[in-house]
Amino acid sequence: MVNLRTTIGPYTFDNPLMNASGVHCMTAAELDEVAASVAGTLVTKSGTPAARDGNPAPRYAALTLGSINSMGLPNKGFAYYLDYAIKFQQTHPTQPIFLSIAGTGPADYAEMAKTIQASDFTGLTEFNLSCPNVPGKPQIAYDLETTEQILDDLFKVFKKPAGIKLPPFFDLAQFDAMAALLNRYPLTFINSINSLGNGLMIDTATDTALIRPKGGFGGIGGAYAKPIALANVRAFRQRLRPDIAIIGTGGVTTGRDVYELILCGASLVSLGTVLQEEGIPAFARLTSELEAEMTAKGYATLDEFKGQLKTL
Ligand code: SIN
Repeated sequence: MVNLRTTIGPYTFDNPLMNASGVHCMTAAELDEVAASVAGTLVTKSGTPAARDGNPAPRYAALTLGSINSMGLPNKGFAYYLDYAIKFQQTHPTQPIFLSIAGTGPADYAEMAKTIQASDFTGLTEFNLSCPNVPGKPQIAYDLETTEQILDDLFKVFKKPAGIKLPPFFDLAQFDAMAALLNRYPLTFINSINSLGNGLMIDTATDTALIRPKGGFGGIGGAYAKPIALANVRAFRQRLRPDIAIIGTGGVTTGRDVYELILCGASLVSLGTVLQEEGIPAFARLTSELEAEMTAKGYATLDEFKGQLKTL
């Protein structure tokens, strides 16, 4: 028998799987379906100060090894998700929930944080600093100065458990610089990685970009992202304070992929493309594949192998 229990800060989860923000979390009905599955927790779509329609369709396409999307933060507005999360914790007192929010400008983060701080919400808040898909807006976390300004302003007003969603980084100097910055703040977790921003895929029949927004540029997810996700989780685990937990996101299609993200240091693993493509049954399939992998390796708990990657 394996035990899949995991923790982040004071929160305990019976299963390390959750949805990635953006997948199966736009409406209360979708969130309810994740909550009713074997997933250990759930996160809302990143809410912005006002509801958004997002980018024009087609804005998502399945690919051979993953997906490309440029959704553009369609969402029902941050107040909708805060209201859902507060009601959720009343009806599910033992199941923690994540609220995700995204600013359309740097000042939005502290403004929304003030509202969450003043509310009855007792879960975890994920501040998304990494959406690659809003036309004209760069991914914030690639700009260290803006990230620092946002975190300074945020933690002046926000005292509840908080984390940030990061884009992928590709150079060890970037990991060093971002980790040094993050270690200065009372973060409970990071979520690494968002999609590989601004990829491009082409329809072979028509020689046309597969998706409409941004001339076809969009975030790449699925198996394409796995090595980058593993490296980012590993690199941040080696550099962050031990009390900052990591949610590993990216590249999961099998239970072995979940196992490897945990081996690199993830405490929770979130599902993006695989959940979009397979739906809610993905949680049960990946859970049993993870259990089989742990049994084959002789592990009974996640803590026995979390962060235990060996190197040559
Ligand atoms: C989107 O809505 O465009 C995706 C959100 C994200 O990648 O943060």
